[in-house]
Amino acid sequence: MPRKLAAGNWKMNGTSAELDQARALMAACPTAGVDILICPPATLLSRLSDLVRGSTIATGGQDCHANAMGAHTGDLAAEMLADAGAGYVILGHSERRADHNETDADVQAKVKAALNAGLIAIVCVGETEAQRDAGQTLAVIGTQLAGSLPNGMTDDRLVVAYEPVWAIGTGKVPTLPQIGEVHDFMRAQLLARFGNTANAMRLLYGGSVKSSNAAEIFAVPNVDGALVGGASLKAADFKGIIDALEAA
Ligand code: PGA
Repeated sequence: MPRKLAAGNWKMNGTSAELDQARALMAACPTAGVDILICPPATLLSRLSDLVRGSTIATGGQDCHANAMGAHTGDLAAEMLADAGAGYVILGHSERRADHNETDADVQAKVKAALNAGLIAIVCVGETEAQRDAGQTLAVIGTQLAGSLPNGMTDDRLVVAYEPVWAIGTGKVPTLPQIGEVHDFMRAQLLARFGNTANAMRLLYGGSVKSSNAAEIFAVPNVDGALVGGASLKAADFKGIIDALEAA
């Protein structure tokens, strides 16, 4: 069984004051039976990494450039994230795909860059509401997985997050059978492409996860954790989700 992962994505939230939330979470989780990750805005990554070093909390970036260095104003290389203390990077989040026109090919290039820098890639996939209504969910997920993942992925380098676009930040959550259907499908796709290592790849659910709905989501087969936005910003809220994952 893969070690479960509770990943927090702070998105474009947080200045120095919010490091107190990480301090509080660290104090609340002196030991942990699951992996805990916070992906802060890049401006806080180095300080947060220093703060949590040696604790139960790991840190990650929210995006990286496909190139290792160069003339790319405003971008960050995976090596820079690693140098700032990150162990992970979120790639292909739907907000990146929508706001920055990232394609599956772009995401795949970024995954390669992340692996070259020694980072674990958290690759996000998910359908829009219109795609779900049109019965295209599994086709969309299959296409995104096929296009966003390079060959040769292994369980220690890849985490996949299923994040229905319509569930992100909306309070709407798919039914448990809907989550299960997609996660079973993703496991099967990954097994077909990468072989047995895919049994140990962590598959996260993301989209309006809260401490109040976490336990039932974590009981769904092939859900190995969560990628949490809003509810990761407050230590007490995120701790509730971590507790639910530990109990699952
Ligand atoms: P949310 O965001 O938990 O605020 O819905 C999830 C995500 O985008 O990762």
